[in-house]
Amino acid sequence: MGSPNIAFIKYWGMRKGHARNLPNNSSVSMTLGGKGSRIFTVTSVIFSEKLKKDTFYIDGRKDEHPKGASEILERLRKMADAKEKALVVSYNSFPKSAGIASSASGSATLAFVASRALGLKLSRKRLSIVAREGSGSAARSVFGGIVKWRMGKLKNGSDSYAVQIAKPSHWPELIDLICVVSKLKKKVSTNEGHERTVNTSALYRARPAFAESNIKRLAYAVKRKDFHLLAELIMRDSNSMHATMFDSWPPIRYLTDESWNMIQVVQDVNRHHGENIAAYTFDAGPNAHIITTDKYKSLIKKLLVKHIKFLEIIESKAGGGPRPLGERSSLINAERLAPIAHPRLRF
Ligand code: DP6
Repeated sequence: MGSPNIAFIKYWGMRKGHARNLPNNSSVSMTLGGKGSRIFTVTSVIFSEKLKKDTFYIDGRKDEHPKGASEILERLRKMADAKEKALVVSYNSFPKSAGIASSASGSATLAFVASRALGLKLSRKRLSIVAREGSGSAARSVFGGIVKWRMGKLKNGSDSYAVQIAKPSHWPELIDLICVVSKLKKKVSTNEGHERTVNTSALYRARPAFAESNIKRLAYAVKRKDFHLLAELIMRDSNSMHATMFDSWPPIRYLTDESWNMIQVVQDVNRHHGENIAAYTFDAGPNAHIITTDKYKSLIKKLLVKHIKFLEIIESKAGGGPRPLGERSSLINAERLAPIAHPRLRF
């Protein structure tokens, strides 16, 4: 099982190389999860000669092409010198369109589970490279806590992988309030967004250097547990990424009026306190992730509920990276799930 992450310093825009999903700047995120978390992905994989092609069931439905999944399986098969196709059954505990990166969680979990199913004992660094080839942001979800994805320089991507910069236990008070205001599918896919921004935004040219210099400051803020600084860096990075999106042509806008209302709530409470006690950040969608600490969680939630029309608020702390559910239980899961997902398969 594994979990998604929320980026504090974001990955947006790819450079061209021989390998897939090579970023123009490094990025940093917090892997979600923690005790009693409602945010996880559980995946079972079986490789079998009986299968004619890779087959995927996500959240109970057949999915012909889950983002990056075939690439991950292909890469692992090459490493293991295996030919068997796979049956993948995966379940997300959170709604797909809630602004929680399901492809990051799915790709990192698949890389972890499938590599073990093939008997590969991959280091977290190599897992990160494999997961990255599925979905860029997945590179970070192979570690828990606060994680940096080093952009690397090589065209083959062998130096573009994640490292852990702080364990989940380093700053246990940090909390992510995922504020779901819309569950509509995004009009511009992330892949299209990455490309359009790189190709058309003049503002984007300044972004890689801005992100890299803020990563240094963010690492310092994490080390010192300086929430005021961390919050400013998180908010400014989100603003910066969304500014380059809007500067693209045709413009890309993921934020809605409700997103702006949430930004206002956070700005107002921070101004009122004379320091940053919360930070907003948005990925490619309108739902805010509001980062705060245990001390202010209730106050922030109260203000949000007062000012925003919510569908749902989902809470998460920092969690660990992918882990087995237990050798026996994942095998039992796979055997039990396979015939349900695919009635003609028998193992
Ligand atoms: C905006 O290419 O990783 O979330 O695979 O659809 O999750 P998905 O997208 P991906 O780019 C998403 C980038 C981001 C910022 C980030 O997570 O760094």
